[in-house]
Amino acid sequence: MKLLVTGGAGYVGSVCAAHLIEAGHEVVVLDDLSTGHRDAVPAGATFVEGELGAAAGEVLGAGGFEGVLHFAARSLVGESVQRPELYWDGNVVASFRLLEAVRAHGVPRLVFSSTAATYGEPEQVPIPETAPTRPTNPYGASKLAIDHMITSYATAHGLAATSLRYFNVAGAHVTGTERLGERHAVETHLIPLVLQVAAGTRESISIYGEDWPTPDGTCVRDYIHVDDLADAHLLALTHATGSRHDVYNLGSGHGFSVREVVEACRTVTGHPIPAVVAPRRAGDPAVLVASSELAAERLGWKPSRTELERIVSDAWEFARSR
Ligand code: UFG
Repeated sequence: MKLLVTGGAGYVGSVCAAHLIEAGHEVVVLDDLSTGHRDAVPAGATFVEGELGAAAGEVLGAGGFEGVLHFAARSLVGESVQRPELYWDGNVVASFRLLEAVRAHGVPRLVFSSTAATYGEPEQVPIPETAPTRPTNPYGASKLAIDHMITSYATAHGLAATSLRYFNVAGAHVTGTERLGERHAVETHLIPLVLQVAAGTRESISIYGEDWPTPDGTCVRDYIHVDDLADAHLLALTHATGSRHDVYNLGSGHGFSVREVVEACRTVTGHPIPAVVAPRRAGDPAVLVASSELAAERLGWKPSRTELERIVSDAWEFARSR
């Protein structure tokens, strides 16, 4: 298939683009490089540098596209609270322009990067897709608004759409000479921060609270390997049905605590990784774990890189290659 990958110079987008190319698809990456990296765009993709809202129409206007995988987004929870306008414009308005281009050029399929942040503080864990969506920050609210927009386009205009709600994406795509992973200018995610300590660029890791109602007192998250996530995108593309918008949670269904993550990083790197207990971070839920039964049942998706040490060792391999 000829496919447009928005945000294909970013972490998840670049890894998915690499999987799509490996599977024989023709990939055009559209990215404004505001947070992505030109050298993360996999060899074999055609690269267009441009802002999503402004450039999507022109790119899709070239014709022949059978699908769009939409990753381009702002994704910093804290920033979204401080500067919500960036999220309504960069996520919601830009996605609206993309959807209009998809409609104008008759592109039949769309796969969208949604997030666990659409659920907010969960009432029930593991979280199913039927859980109430009550985002607690503008980032989650902007992704949920796009989900609603997509539903209406599927119903009214026949689009075959899938939203994939990621839990904690981690690890790296490490095959042959290809190394694609997480490198954010502003890093907020736990595993890359812990690995910075092992690499000697950070003194210690702060553990945000050890008085949570969890077995060891630290927050529990569902870490999903980015290659497993990419597998789900390929399955979503082939299972998409016209006039439907399907929503799937993507996680391993297993939670690991912050302390377990730090310990796995110590084992993988052999570094003592000093940890300092710090106050809780505002807005963190105690436990977030996905129920991905629907993706298993309907897409036949089963994550296979679920051991924490495997996830950490791929992230470490990527970090050392930088
Ligand atoms: N944490 C620390 N110290 C750090 C960084 C993180 O203890 O220096 C803890 C956090 O408190 C949290 C866990 O490690 O309990 C994971 O934190 P991340 O920032 O790596 O990930 P989040 O769970 O906060 O965020 C993820 C996605 C977001 C999404 C959110 C939904 O990365 O995009 O889930 O809640 F919005």
